[in-house]
Amino acid sequence: MTGDRSKNKLPRRRVLAVGFAGHQGKEYLPIVRESADIVGGVDPAPAASSLADEWGFPHYDVLGEALRKVDFDAAVVTVPHSEHFPVCTELLAHGSHVIKEKPFAVTEQEARQLVHLAQRADRSVLTLLQRNFDPVFQFAQENLARIGEPYWFSYDYHFNLAHPTTGWRASREQAMGGVLLDMGYHLIDVLSGLFPEPAPEPPRVHSAFVHHCQEMRDRRLEDLVSLMFSYPSTGLAGSLRVSRHNYEKTEHLCVLGTEGALNVVPEAAVLHSVGGLPLERRTGKGPRTDAVRSMIAHHLGHLDDRCYRQAHLQRQLAVVRTIDGIYRDRLRERNELADRCA
Ligand SMILES: NC(=O)c1ccc[n+]([C@@H]2O[C@H](COP(=O)([O-])OP(=O)(O)OC[C@H]3O[C@@H](n4cnc5c(N)ncnc54)[C@H](O)[C@@H]3O)[C@@H](O)[C@H]2O)c1
Repeated sequence: MTGDRSKNKLPRRRVLAVGFAGHQGKEYLPIVRESADIVGGVDPAPAASSLADEWGFPHYDVLGEALRKVDFDAAVVTVPHSEHFPVCTELLAHGSHVIKEKPFAVTEQEARQLVHLAQRADRSVLTLLQRNFDPVFQFAQENLARIGEPYWFSYDYHFNLAHPTTGWRASREQAMGGVLLDMGYHLIDVLSGLFPEPAPEPPRVHSAFVHHCQEMRDRRLEDLVSLMFSYPSTGLAGSLRVSRHNYEKTEHLCVLGTEGALNVVPEAAVLHSVGGLPLERRTGKGPRTDAVRSMIAHHLGHLDDRCYRQAHLQRQLAVVRTIDGIYRDRLRERNELADRCA
């Protein structure tokens, strides 16, 4: 993928890195630099200035200053969840493309506003979701039709973190949701790609939210979520579980169809016959950075592609609508319970 732009002789894009001194921002710096020029960085963290010096780009504490002083084509945004919407709207108002971390948005209303602003500015807002560039998930997408009519899926994704959540993820105001919004966003995006919903019929979802410790319960930031999906238009159903404090780190997607099954773990995807005979397999070659490298180069190469942009926006809108719907249902149930107890 990195070669695409040079083959087509497109100029290297100029990138502003927003939130570059954090965990994800630092991981992306060397990868972005392979296919673009980093012309500035914004981050108020104390370590940001010396990091920018090391990388040889100018540093700004606030976005507004960078917008006044730096010419760039696209911003790569890796900030806490509460900052996504204000940062992205400011960038779009300025006329820049945005390549951003998940979530695309937290609420459906904000997602619709972002789509509107992107279309009005004729700019892209592309979300970084590495599974779409991972060979094992690509195999699942390419071979889904071979299992006939899918009727059931189960999807598990767990971390085995030993300590309670800290930092902005432990703050309701900054995280704006628990593990569903954080880790679960990736999975709901994968499901939206495999089983795109016909517009008026989103999946129905029943949820259980569970907390590892009292502090997270008090802040309404779930550490474990279990979801049961049903898709009224096709009869498909499935379950999804995501958590932070499991006994082992694991990811496993299984889809059962009328004529076969797909089984996906990070190391390999396998197509099975009904009854379990393995028919074809793709192994996950290379480290995670290969998928990240492909994703970033691909997004940078498609900033002006309006069809790509439109399809991406519609899918992210569907993902945000599903997650926001689950949170709103929980809130309604909570309020009804409080009313009954009052
Ligand atoms: N794709 C993945 O697998 C993955 C993994 C981890 C995090 N993420 C996502 O990346 C984003 C950042 O998470 P993180 O773990 O890197 O957090 P982090 O706290 O390590 O980094 C966030 C950085 O943003 C900076 N920042 C805060 N407000 C800012 C603002 N207004 N302008 C510029 N910089 C600002 C902070 O100073 C910090 O350096 C989140 O959206 C998270 O969901 C994705």
